[in-house]
Order: sequence, then structure tokens, then C-alpha cells
Amino acid sequence: MATSVLSARKVFADRIGRIEVSATMAVAAEAAKLKSAGVSLMDFGAGEPHFPTPRHIKDAAIAAIEANFTRYTVVPGIPEVRKAIVERHACDFGSDYAVDEAIFTGGEKLALFNAIQVLVEHGDEVILPVPYWVSFKDIIQYAGGTVVYLETEEAESFRITAEAIERLITPKTKAIILNSPSNPAGNVIDEADLERIAHVAHERGIYLILDECYVYLNYESKPVSAGKFGWAKEQMIVLGSLSKTYAMTGWRAGYALGPKKVIANLSKLQSQSTSNATSFVQKGAIAALAGSQECVEEFRAEFKLLRDYMLAALKTIPEVTCTVPAGAFYVYPNVSAYIGRGGGNSRIGSATELATRLLHEGHVVAVPGEAFGTPHHIRLSYPVTRATIDEGVRRMKAFLLGL
Ligand SMILES: Cc1ncc(COP(=O)(O)O)c(C=O)c1O
Repeated sequence: MATSVLSARKVFADRIGRIEVSATMAVAAEAAKLKSAGVSLMDFGAGEPHFPTPRHIKDAAIAAIEANFTRYTVVPGIPEVRKAIVERHACDFGSDYAVDEAIFTGGEKLALFNAIQVLVEHGDEVILPVPYWVSFKDIIQYAGGTVVYLETEEAESFRITAEAIERLITPKTKAIILNSPSNPAGNVIDEADLERIAHVAHERGIYLILDECYVYLNYESKPVSAGKFGWAKEQMIVLGSLSKTYAMTGWRAGYALGPKKVIANLSKLQSQSTSNATSFVQKGAIAALAGSQECVEEFRAEFKLLRDYMLAALKTIPEVTCTVPAGAFYVYPNVSAYIGRGGGNSRIGSATELATRLLHEGHVVAVPGEAFGTPHHIRLSYPVTRATIDEGVRRMKAFLLGL
């Protein structure tokens, strides 16, 4: 009797059915299986720097552990880390946030997740430019929101304009998410476009959510943040990450900057989930944000060289085209020429099929474009050695030409 009552009941909430496992994580899991079976892979899947975390950051966290700084802290982060966040941002971008307008989180992804949870109701619309980072779509859908896609043109380097955004605004629009430089295509929104978009959001009372995960990895122009537009602050949330800037992906260190009432609600939600981000990670973050920024410039310079190396290597593959990414550390080549190739049962029908076969037959890890909303691309993450780029692109070329 008890069993039949239980089985008649739905087990899982609808909201968990609205999301998928992150495609980049799924690719990583598949690649890990092959690696553990002894296959040598050229891995362009993971979106993380290949550098170790700088010494002074590690030392600060180690010293914090040794000093038994290992207990709970206040939920939004200790005052020193919140101060370090606002001062770094003010110094680099000319913003003006108070300490209680900042929260430290266990990674930027958590700040984003919580921001969407506190803002988005069922039926609310959130405008999202395509191509987009995988998690935006699922996080919006998990909250019950509807994603409104803003299509962009590859021939215009995926440019996002205020006019295009304005056309998509309806009475249900709650927020716009911008990610510049973007994952996966590395496109950067220039200051003039950013200002126009901030004006549109401000005038229409729509939240502008700015994902600045890659803001320091800009190869063509001075990094810019809409955080400097003080007049737009009431409707703006800036999300930042230490992961890529300071080679700290595993530490889980991120933040949000925004109006006090928004930050208070992010803190309230965090108090009922993770509580504070790890205590000694906060000390490492202070060393990162308030210490020497030389490592940031060193990483940026090396990534730029790797970008150019990767682009030159890709040019050797016939019929693969690639926009020049102005920032972040991915290339997003268009592989449409090869979709539809391979006769009979082995015909490649999609970028997902291409990436799957490239993994199993070519032993190269790439993330298919469907994960980012475009069906004709694959994403290659280039923080790897030049030898990996050489061998990986050689394998890719051999695989594609063999189709
Ligand atoms: C665009 C974008 N935003 C946010 C994040 C999350 O960063 P974090 O490691 O701080 O959670 C990533 C990570 O890949 C990303 O690519």
C-alpha cells in the first residue's frame, strides 16, 4: 500500500527537469572516461587557465589556515574582502560601490544563480545574446524565467547593440544578461555600445546583469565595465570572478556588486544555502585583489600570444573559418563546411555529432556549438601548451579531411 502511494507521487520537482547538465561539464566527464582508459587526448574542453595560482595568493590562504582562520564568517564575506572587491573595481573601472554593495560568493556562478533567483519570477523574460555561455539559459529556466534570445551576426563579430535589445523588450522583460568578453566567441562590447545598452535598461526599468568573468582578458582595447555608469547603478548587477583573472578556478571565488537592497537579498538567499564562502579562500581573495596585479598582465599577455598561435594553426584547416576573438580564452571556429560530410551511416549531422566523433576518433576534446546556441561551431579553449595546439589541430585537420 505504502509503495503504491509513493510510486503514484511525483519524485522530482518540475524545476530540476527544466535544466540540463552543463555541456562543458558533460564533455569533461566523457573525456575523463577516455583518459582513464589510457587514451591520450588533446584537451581544449575546460575553460580554465593552465597557470598555477600565484604564490602570494596561495601563501595568504595557507597562512590563514595556519592561523586557524577556519570558522564560519559572516555570510556576505568579511569586511576586508568586500572592501578589496569594491576598491579593485573602483581602481580598474572607475566604479563607486560601498562595502555593503558587494558580496563575496563561492564562485561567480553562484552569484549569478542567486541573482537570477532573487529577481526572476515565473513568466519573466530575460534577454540573452547568442552565442551565450551554457549556464545562463539553464539558470534562468530553473528560476521559471523565459529566455528571449538575441540573435547576432557572425560576420559582425557577434556584435550586440542597444537597438537589437530594444526590439526584444516587452512588458515582461525583467533583465538583460551581457557577458563581455564573452564565452564562447570572445566578442567584446565596446564602451559606446555598453553605454547605449545601459541607457535602454535604465530608461525601461530593466535589470542589466553584467558577467565580467573575462573582463581583464581583453586583447584589443582597455577593459571597460558598465559599473562606471553610476547613473545606471540602481538597475545593474556586476558579477565578477577570480577564477580566470588569477588562475583560481578550483578555489571558488566570485562576487556581485549592486544596489544595497539587491546585495542584501543575495546575502539572505546565501544564508539559507552555502552560508559564507570558504573562510581561508576569502583571505586568498584579498591577497589577489589587493596585492600586486602583475600576474594579471602576465597571464593576459600569454593568452594573447596563445590566441594568435591557435588562430594561425586553425587557418591550416581548409574551410574552417574563425572570427578573431577580442577577449576571453576561447576560439569559436565555424565548422559548417564539415557538417553533412561523411557518407551513409557515418554522415555528420550536427556540431554535437562532430565533436563526439572528434573526441572518440580524433582524440581531441572540443565543446559543440549547440551548447552555446549556435549549431555550426565548436569551442576550443586555448590555455594549453603550444605543443598541445600543434598536435590537437593536426589531429583535427586529419579527422575533418578524412570525413
Ligand atoms: C561567462 C562565465 N561566467 C561565469 C563563469 C563562472 O565563473 P566561476 O568559476 O567564478 O564560477 C564562467 C566559467 O566558466 C564563465 O565562462
